Amino acid sequence: MTENIRNFSMDWFSLKGKVAIVTGANQNLGMGYAVAFAKAGADLFITHFTDDVSEVKKLIESEGRRVHFLKGDLLKKEDIKAVVDECMRVYGRIDILVNNAATNHFEDFETFPDEAYSRVVELNMKTVYYLSKEVSKIMIRQGSGKIINIGSALSYTADKKCPSYVTAKHGVLGITRAFANELGKYNIQTNAICPGFFQTDVNIAISADPVFYNKITDRISLGRWGKADDLMGAAVFLASKASDYLNGSDIIIDGGFATVL
Ligand SMILES: NC(=O)c1ccc[n+]([C@@H]2O[C@H](COP(=O)([O-])OP(=O)(O)OC[C@H]3O[C@@H](n4cnc5c(N)ncnc54)[C@H](O)[C@@H]3O)[C@@H](O)[C@H]2O)c1
Repeated sequence: MTENIRNFSMDWFSLKGKVAIVTGANQNLGMGYAVAFAKAGADLFITHFTDDVSEVKKLIESEGRRVHFLKGDLLKKEDIKAVVDECMRVYGRIDILVNNAATNHFEDFETFPDEAYSRVVELNMKTVYYLSKEVSKIMIRQGSGKIINIGSALSYTADKKCPSYVTAKHGVLGITRAFANELGKYNIQTNAICPGFFQTDVNIAISADPVFYNKITDRISLGRWGKADDLMGAAVFLASKASDYLNGSDIIIDGGFATVL
């Protein structure tokens, strides 16, 4: 046991020599994960749906790391396959996958369109399954890997007007546990980060409503909404050797929101 304790090193948090795929990482929280990995020594493969990748490119390259971009629609099976093929062509390996890309649709439950229900569940939940399944084939061959799924406060509770998002984010935890269970024997760890309330583009409309904004802020025991850098340390931990015995777990990063009645 002492030998084991003596061996622990801060190098276990390093991602030097690793290749990480982060979906939807040209902006907001995904950009935070990608830049955190670059700062820890990894090269990046970023999928994007909107056009502007200049900011994340600059931030990663200023760390002396490589970044490769692939534009695609992760609702399309062929684009999911292309992520893995292109990452393997460019880097020849995949060590880390962060399933970050997601969308939402807000509408009254009574008129909530079936199309929006299907589309949000397809991207936020089924794509996590399909892409992780493709990536896991490479990780199994390599004998190691880290899959990090992005859940939400709505992986545990339900908000109104977004039943598809609530369904999908609960499902993300199910997928996390299923993959942890299936892939643990290959030395592949699957875990989730569940952010609380962060002021990104998706929340501009709801945080502009002072009643809603104050209701949420009052419930956050740290007294403020989150910022991308509040998630970056946990992402590096989950991607690194330091978390090798963590599998099928979910880390709630919400400033204390979930613990307050
Ligand atoms: N912002 C929050 O408060 C918050 C809270 C909990 C969880 N999350 C989760 O964190 C992740 C990132 O959230 P964010 O706030 O940075 O949102 P965001 O909208 O800025 O990022 C989502 C990304 O997904 C991409 N995307 C959307 N549709 C796509 C498609 N069809 N194909 C490929 N990519 C597509 C977008 O282009 C974008 O890059 C999401 O999984 C979100 O559910 C966010």
